[in-house]
This record gives sequence, structure tokens and C-alpha cells, in this order.
Amino acid sequence: MTARRARVSDEIADATRQLDDAGVASARADAEWLMCHVLGIDRGRLLIADDMSDAAVVRYRDLVAERARRIPLQHLTGTAAFGPLDLSVGPGVFVPRPETEWLLEWAVSRLSQIAEPVVVDLCSGSGALAIGIAALVPAARVYAVEKSSDAWEWLSCNIFDCGVQERCIAVRADVTITGNTLAALERAGMPAPADVVVSNPPYVPEGTGTAPEVDWDPHTAVFGGDDGMSVITPMLEVVGRLLRPGGRAGIEHDETTSAKVIAAARATGVFTEINGYDDLTGRPRFVTMERAATDVGVS
Ligand SMILES: C[S@@+](CC[C@H](N)C(=O)[O-])C[C@H]1O[C@@H](n2cnc3c(N)ncnc32)[C@H](O)[C@@H]1O
Repeated sequence: MTARRARVSDEIADATRQLDDAGVASARADAEWLMCHVLGIDRGRLLIADDMSDAAVVRYRDLVAERARRIPLQHLTGTAAFGPLDLSVGPGVFVPRPETEWLLEWAVSRLSQIAEPVVVDLCSGSGALAIGIAALVPAARVYAVEKSSDAWEWLSCNIFDCGVQERCIAVRADVTITGNTLAALERAGMPAPADVVVSNPPYVPEGTGTAPEVDWDPHTAVFGGDDGMSVITPMLEVVGRLLRPGGRAGIEHDETTSAKVIAAARATGVFTEINGYDDLTGRPRFVTMERAATDVGVS
């Protein structure tokens, strides 16, 4: 029995070394998550896992070798944790990142006082923000806008699998084209102007060095042109048209573009209360704004 127990912990220890050598920052955690995936147990039960079959050892070592090639953990397990959700992910869709949970919390805290809030998530990807809001705010009606057909398939499946299909609607549209997005939302039956708009759009400036795992995300999900603003700038016009007066928007952006996002929001002439926020590591990553009752002009 002791020898078998040691087999699980020895496998994890070997995998941790291998992943560490490959430059995986979260080597131990990833080795443990992969073991949980192979054994079909949650992380809390890993300490008491006492056996693994030869077949499980082979499968585990294969997965560890793939992770050492810097294939994202979430592509290997097929799921990504985001807030209260476990979302299906894989080729063709962006893997949601933990920092985006800031936007989820921001939106939920704004929606809790509104009776039947209407929310739009622009650039929805797997649906992390849209489905997260629908799950945490049961009175909310959420529209999840996505351009890519591959991502849209993942989005539609996740909406259904998370059981929010009555209140979370996937919409195919290009958020850089105002008329296209407004018409698609109208066809989808959006009942009123939005109380809140959230967006984690493609925003990394082309040429920025990224971790090898990012190569597995679609290029168009990550990069936002030379200055990181090719989607955000035109999307701000859509945001202004979607929000009711007093409605609020929160947008995630690259750590180098906070001033540009604030300037682009000001340049629309329709927002007040434009503020930037840092992520948990102190990097400027979010801008929020309020739709003015009347156009405020360009400052
Ligand atoms: C950074 S990912 C974010 C996905 C998701 N919101 C999240 O936080 O995990 C950006 C998403 O925007 C989509 N996208 C890119 N350009 C778009 C456009 N012009 N209109 C609508 N969606 C777009 C991409 O396909 C991708 O799914």
C-alpha cells in the first residue's frame, strides 16, 4: 500500500521537475491538476489518492510531456475555471484568464441593485463574463457578442452546459462595426438599452512577446493591432450606443494602454466618470466609464 501511495506522489514529483525544467511557472500546481484529471478526482482528494493503474501512469506521463511542450493546461484538461464556472475550452477559443474575474466582480456589484438588468458582453469568447454574470445575477438578461465562428461554437455549448440558455443569448457580430452589432442585438431581441457593458477584447499590441501558451489562443483573440487599440477604439462607439444614460461599461486592456483607452473613451464625447484600475499585481488593466445623459463633448 505504501509503495502504491508513493507512486502517485513520485509521479507528481517527477512531473513537477519536468515542468519546472520546461519553464512552466506553476509546475507543481499543473502536475497536481493533471493528476486529478487522470484520476478523475478533485484537488481536495489528491492527498488521499492511493493508487494509479499502469494505464493511468502512461496517460499521465503523456499529458505531462504535452504540458512540457507548453500546451496550455486547460487545453489538456478541456476545461477552464472562471469564477463559479468550469467552461469547456480548446482549439479556436481563448482560454479565460484569472485577471478577468475583476471585471466579473465589478459587473456583479453594479447589477445587484437593478431589478431586471440588461447586460452586453462584447468579444465574449468562451462566454466567461457573460455566463458568469448570468450565473451570479439570476435576474439578468445577458447578450454575448462574438465574431469568430469557432469561438461562437464554444460559447453556445458553454451557455447550454451551464444551464443559462434562457437568459444568456449568443450573438454573432463584429463589435468594430456599430451597425452590424446593433442590428444583430436587435434581431436577438435585446429588450432595452444595457445597464452594463463588459468587454475583454483583443488588446495586446502586435509584436509584444508572450508566453508559449498564448500561441494556442487564436491570434485574433489576443492581438489588437500595432497599438493594441484596433478593436477597442471602434468598439467604444458601440458601447456608447448600447448603454442607457447612467449605464456603465468596464473594459480590460493591455498594461501599456491605459492612457490610450481613457483618451479614446473621452474622445467619443458620450462618457463621464472615466476611471482606470489596476489588477491584483498592480498593473493598470481596466477602464470603467458611465454613459452621460446627454453628450458631454470631447475634452
Ligand atoms: C481576449 S478574448 C476574450 C474572450 C472572453 N471575453 C474572455 O474574457 O475570456 C477576445 C475575444 O474577442 C473576439 N473578437 C475579436 N475581434 C472581434 C470583433 N471585431 N468582434 C467581436 N468579437 C471579436 C475573439 O474571437 C475572442 O473570442
